[in-house]
Amino acid sequence: MIGFTKNALEIISQRYLLKDAQGMAIETPKQLFERVAKCVAVVEKEDFMLWKQRFYKLMSNFYFLPNSPTLMNAGTRDGQLSACFVLPVEDSLNGIFTSLKNAALIHQSGGGTGFNFSKLRPKGSWIDASGGTSSGPLAFIKIFDVATEYVKQGGKRRGANMGILNVDHPDIEEFITSKSNSDAIKNFNLSVGITDAFMLAVQENKDWKLLDPASKEVRKTVKAAYLWQEIVNQAWNSGDPGLIFLDTINKHNPLPKSGEIQSTNPCGEVPLLDYESCNLGSINLSKMIKIVNGISSIDWEKLAETTRLAIRFLDNIIDANYYILPEIEQITKAHRKIGLGVMGWAEMLLLLKIPYASTKALLLAEELIKFIQGHSYKSSHDLAIEKGEFPEFRKSSHPQTFLLRNATCNSIAPTGSIAVIADASYSIEPLFALAYKRVGILNGITQTEINTPFINTMKQEKLWNKTLNEEVLKKGSVQHIKGVPEELKHLFRTSLEIPWKYHLLHQKAFQKFTDNAVSKTINLPENTTPETISDIYMNAWKYQLKGITIYRYGSKPGQVLQKCGPD
Ligand code: CDP
Repeated sequence: MIGFTKNALEIISQRYLLKDAQGMAIETPKQLFERVAKCVAVVEKEDFMLWKQRFYKLMSNFYFLPNSPTLMNAGTRDGQLSACFVLPVEDSLNGIFTSLKNAALIHQSGGGTGFNFSKLRPKGSWIDASGGTSSGPLAFIKIFDVATEYVKQGGKRRGANMGILNVDHPDIEEFITSKSNSDAIKNFNLSVGITDAFMLAVQENKDWKLLDPASKEVRKTVKAAYLWQEIVNQAWNSGDPGLIFLDTINKHNPLPKSGEIQSTNPCGEVPLLDYESCNLGSINLSKMIKIVNGISSIDWEKLAETTRLAIRFLDNIIDANYYILPEIEQITKAHRKIGLGVMGWAEMLLLLKIPYASTKALLLAEELIKFIQGHSYKSSHDLAIEKGEFPEFRKSSHPQTFLLRNATCNSIAPTGSIAVIADASYSIEPLFALAYKRVGILNGITQTEINTPFINTMKQEKLWNKTLNEEVLKKGSVQHIKGVPEELKHLFRTSLEIPWKYHLLHQKAFQKFTDNAVSKTINLPENTTPETISDIYMNAWKYQLKGITIYRYGSKPGQVLQKCGPD
């Protein structure tokens, strides 16, 4: 019997198990993993049964899980297995609506889409074909947003989008404020496409020119610092916009000869060229711990072996996949990008008794992700020797002496659903609270949970009792509870109790050895000031992160996770 939690079983039954026409499940959770393992093993030329068994164990032990579309669609007719896509948006009605249709098809199959809308002419521009004026990028983003609302992903969840507008587009001011209006865009993460030139102009308090995207004529000149303040104020207000650092992304583009990268997937962990797709998967770090003589440490051997198998798994998916468009198939198979990441980082730290807000945690983060990246590249190299390097390898900027099967290997995804299935903490995030209500994710059902490693530690320390249980349920925290030693209070600091610098430094540490990007939310308490958000965004650029997202508690209605406490 696979050890699913109640929550995981509910999610799996509602969204992942295959159903008949009456909506009744036609497989068990065990059969789900068998279906996925078979689909991934089928592309192996030899030892099918052996690979199937290995992939099955990898998932059923919760050592690794692939992204949701793989779990939902593997082995089905036209099974689309990838989570991440980027589509172009050309400056013509034909181009815009072609991408809208393609996005709908991708959403229907469970994937998410990213777009850069900067090629669209600004609002009020002349249109030759109709003799009228253009509605501008914002109007089209709203159309994409409404379409997303009505095309549920595989009938299971709503699609996710990333919408980017570059900081020199004439409609940038409208874009920055667009999430704070009453008819706000709901199904998009919005990010401003930032260049180094803009950041320097902010620092030096210079003018900034907004340019017509086609003619490059100056449409308006503003102070860079004014735009920056607008961005910061709106992020304070609603969490959006985030930033995407286009120059940093393109500095690390492994295929500059194939084009410039203009967008990422919805949550930011994969910068992609137009029509590229990427499949993701995450190692559950909470399972990579061994206990010898009562002392916990990282099981490096197990981690290396898991990484190796996970890379093979993700690489196989490229061949097992069903592609919605020939353009997507062509470029995805030419570059073979994959994104192996992690979940359960906060729990790994708890098991090692290392506080998230500590230098020790940051050093371990670097060591760990460097190890995973090293083994990912080694595995991709071995696969290249066994099965061939990715077709465009010779065009890539990778050292030509070390063959690779994949243009990229690693991404840190948010693991919004797969962490629940594996009963792990999300991605590289600290615990949001020690007790929390999970709202909405299961069709509005509210559940209260107390973190298991917390309960276990308190029991070990003989501190677990009824009062502690009740207090933690009330506040989601131990910081206010007398009798809990300082050391444990430090260990169990939650997301909003952790200073923002540690959030950001964790992102920096993981980004250092991640060839794609790191999706992280810098969670901030309600009383955070716009000045702090400005500091965070400025430091994110200085740290050479590829993007940054913040969220100030309470600034958006309908959060999935809510702290416990008085309603
Ligand atoms: O845990 P799960 O595999 O469902 O996904 P995630 O790690 O939370 O998100 C990874 C990627 O899946 C996102 O960046 C999106 O590209 C895509 N996604 C989506 O299309 N729709 C959602 N509702 C959630 C994620």
